[in-house]
Amino acid sequence: MAVQINPSILSADFARLAEEAKAVEGADWLHVDVMDNHFVPNLTLGVPVVESLARATDTPLDCHLMIEDADRWAPQYVEAGASSVTFHVEAAGAPVRLAREIRAKGARASMALKPATPIEPYEDLLPELDMLLIMTVEPGFGGQSFLDIMLPKIRRTRELIKKHGLELWLQVDGGVSASTIERCADAGADVFVAGSAVYGASDPAAAVRALRTQAEVATGKASWACDH
Ligand code: DX5
Ligand code: ZN
Repeated sequence: MAVQINPSILSADFARLAEEAKAVEGADWLHVDVMDNHFVPNLTLGVPVVESLARATDTPLDCHLMIEDADRWAPQYVEAGASSVTFHVEAAGAPVRLAREIRAKGARASMALKPATPIEPYEDLLPELDMLLIMTVEPGFGGQSFLDIMLPKIRRTRELIKKHGLELWLQVDGGVSASTIERCADAGADVFVAGSAVYGASDPAAAVRALRTQAEVATGKASWACDH
């Protein structure tokens, strides 16, 4: 699968979201971080903003829900116009039922793991998902340092995807930048969220292009992508 770059609007100017979305035209998805000040110690935006943003841009929305009671709220983000909805497994009471509901409503279903959550207990759930998100920082804030200790989990997840022959996308989020994206691609990630590395750049669209090139080159050299 081709590399995908998803700029996170958490690092954008929230008063100018439509323009900020246009500033990264050429990106595959817009990553929208929803935080409720309970699951994480930060508060961002909710359903009405996602509805408005979905109307304001042609780029599909990748909603990352860092909220409690995901079972209750996630389907509303599909109705609001998100094309992909990610819930945290730590916040979902019934992740299989929830993934099926998201898919039934017409969006891609994705599940996220915080840094301390292992992948192994969820091996049997992977066919229910369109994407798996491995957090490479503790969720809650942009601009944090990439956690190298997550690389083995990315590798093990890529092995599980291959073992089961799944079309599952593997996303990384947190501290992804020019200095870390190659390690992520080498370990097995194929969808890259970048907030400060894109919106902190003087030319966000150029930053997306540069990250894509780096990830493509690293993927081309990666053993997981070559040996089939
Ligand atoms: C953090 C969010 C990320 C954040 C990443 O909890 O989930 O999407 O925007 O920001 P950077 O790329 O700056 O680490
Ligand atoms: Zn995110």
